[in-house]
Amino acid sequence: MSQFDVAVIGAGPGGYIAAIRAAQLGFKTVCIDAGVNKAGDAPALGGTCLNVGCIPSKALLQSSEHFHAAQHDFAEHGITVGDVKFDAAKMIERKDGIVTKLTGGIKFLFQKNKVESLFGKGSLKGRNGDVWQVEVDNKGEKSVVEAKHVIIATGSVPRPLPLIDIDNVNVLDNEGALNLTEVPKKLGVIGSGVIGLEMGSVWKRVGSEVTILEAMPTFLAAADQQIAKEAFKVFTKEQGLAIELGVKINEIKNDKNGVTVSYEVGGGAKTETFDKLIVSIGRIPNTEGLNAEGVGLEKDERGFIKVDGECRTNLPNVWAIGDVVRGPMLAHKASDEGVAVAERIAGQKPHLDFNTIPFVIYTDPEIAWVGKTEEQLKAEGVEYKKGTSGFAANGRALGLGKAKGTVKVLACAKTDRVLGVHMIGPMVSELVAEGVMSMEFSASSEDIARIVHAHPTLSEVLHEAALAADKRALHG
Ligand code: FAD
Ligand code: NAI
Repeated sequence: MSQFDVAVIGAGPGGYIAAIRAAQLGFKTVCIDAGVNKAGDAPALGGTCLNVGCIPSKALLQSSEHFHAAQHDFAEHGITVGDVKFDAAKMIERKDGIVTKLTGGIKFLFQKNKVESLFGKGSLKGRNGDVWQVEVDNKGEKSVVEAKHVIIATGSVPRPLPLIDIDNVNVLDNEGALNLTEVPKKLGVIGSGVIGLEMGSVWKRVGSEVTILEAMPTFLAAADQQIAKEAFKVFTKEQGLAIELGVKINEIKNDKNGVTVSYEVGGGAKTETFDKLIVSIGRIPNTEGLNAEGVGLEKDERGFIKVDGECRTNLPNVWAIGDVVRGPMLAHKASDEGVAVAERIAGQKPHLDFNTIPFVIYTDPEIAWVGKTEEQLKAEGVEYKKGTSGFAANGRALGLGKAKGTVKVLACAKTDRVLGVHMIGPMVSELVAEGVMSMEFSASSEDIARIVHAHPTLSEVLHEAALAADKRALHG
């Protein structure tokens, strides 16, 4: 029986990073993963993020943005293009190439860092003295490894909608939405969260008529509402995404006529038939096959593995990280928890601040934020001041042809400490890092205002918003 210091179950961004860090810290480490490639004929490391999440979605967003730009934006630069054509299958092929490259990269990183990689489903069998036994089921062929520490990083799966089964032909989850090789004429999306908006944007840009049906009456309820309102206006009025809020879905039929959704909205009943329907109503933790009950691993009422602030479960030396535990379901949160757990096993004292985890939605314009929203500060009774600035007069944004959006800095009214940074605009996925850094170093809005920002850059908008928080905006 193979013996290890650390056994990691799951090789998504939580698990593979935890395994690499553990190995770097001198632990004999194994990473067990059951993920397979798109064809289903070979193991594929990287979990949801690399195979059917972050990476493939961003590849499609970029391709569709280029197609849209060629049709609508090139002319003002004096560039005339002929009849612009779109080949969905080619776009998917490019995306698949990026996925293969990156998943293969993890295999290489495992070899480089001497992480043993095992293919199969891992489950906790029990404990022998102070050593855990983990069973690995490779298509019925079972083996057992022993490890002092186990890190569970089994991720999440799409939340099912009881009204309809996903067939990934007409009714799609994220996997199906990322693999359409023809542009659907009419695309329905249930849920206007992150996947709904990103996938809705992709297929809208390449020609689909897109309708997004959202249960909540508020658009992007977790985002700062000033930014969310601006986004809603751009997506619906300028980009033509039909987003219906406060919807109650009553029935969904998937037959030869397409996918027919009957729903109520604003007191009236509506029925729409779509060629394809994406169901993106959130994700649920994945603990299937782990034998959690068998070994007494505690879960909370929503099915997440219960952990403390440092990712310890109720079982000795069993840790859990990423989507399978509380907190935002984000790749960078999973990875940082993975690093922190490996370092804790090594006796170090890492700290992960949940208040400085950045959120990004890769629409166009992008949306990004870190820290508290105005709504949260009000609810918590925190006195704050704010400064806003727009991209409309920013030289770089104008040059890029993307002079739209706003940056808002929220700071404590008494101490000026930055409490939140909220953005909608070009490449704000990159700009948000400055907000994260500022908050991590307990910066004041004056600190951001006094830092020299290169000209002409998009970062000048954040600079100006920080100046505005101090009522000394120069361009406002
Ligand atoms: P996962 O990535 O889900 O990995 C879990 C791994 O464990 C999988 O390989 C699975 O096969 C394996 N596994 C499960 N059970 C077992 C078992 N019993 N034995 C062995 N192996 C097992 N996040 C971002 O931060 N940015 C984005 O832009 C972004 N875009 C996304 C787009 C989409 C369409 C989706 C669906 C998600 C996106 N996310 C994004 C979320 C991100 O993918 C997840 O937060 C992240 O992958 C979670 O990492 P994880 O390691 O916890 O789990
Ligand atoms: P989500 O939680 O972002 O959005 C789900 C939406 O569906 C919510 O607005 C919810 O109110 C709505 N909804 C729920 N039930 C509904 C129903 N019955 N009818 C209509 N609407 C309903 O979840 P999503 O978009 O599925 O993504 C899952 C997770 O993946 C995200 O929470 C995020 O953590 C991660 N992700 C992150 C991305 C990023 O960081 N850019 C990109 C895509 C996904």
